[in-house]
Amino acid sequence: MSDEDLSEVTSQQSAQRSLLVLSGANLQLLGSRQPEIYGSATLEDHMSAARDEARGLGFSLESLQSNHEGDLVDAIGQARSVHAAIIINPGAFTHYSWAIHDALAACEFPIIEVHLSNPHRREAWRHLSVVSSVATAVIMGLGASGYPMAVRAAAALLDTQQLGLAEASTQE
Ligand code: DQA
Repeated sequence: MSDEDLSEVTSQQSAQRSLLVLSGANLQLLGSRQPEIYGSATLEDHMSAARDEARGLGFSLESLQSNHEGDLVDAIGQARSVHAAIIINPGAFTHYSWAIHDALAACEFPIIEVHLSNPHRREAWRHLSVVSSVATAVIMGLGASGYPMAVRAAAALLDTQQLGLAEASTQE
């Protein structure tokens, strides 16, 4: 195997164990933003809990927060070759960003949509998520437990997928 082939295999293997957590508009304010709704944990607290959970399950985790829709669209497009799953809380983009919907629709791996609050218990305009129809699963209303739970869900889906592939290859 050439050095090039070897580095391709190595980067494919690390992509298989890498999760990307994306956070949308205003989530950088967590901790001080409406704590009665979103809790007192900061975004960094949530990411560090998610990273610990991922590490325990043998995954690495990268995260990005942006208030700009295009940044998230770019990150989703790039994730397709670098990560094995996306966990995304798009913030208010959830309710109207068809660009994020389309970017996620092009991903062929697990997508877990997370909300700290339960948008269905809130204003009517929050009841529509344009992301849910392209998400594999949605976790909402569980506050700080939501991110570690999303990591466990993504890891379980990926491990099941791997098991399926391994079983299929032994049957060939
Ligand atoms: C949110 C819910 C959205 O409606 C809101 O715009 C947010 C946060 C949540 O995590 O509960 O910014 O995604």
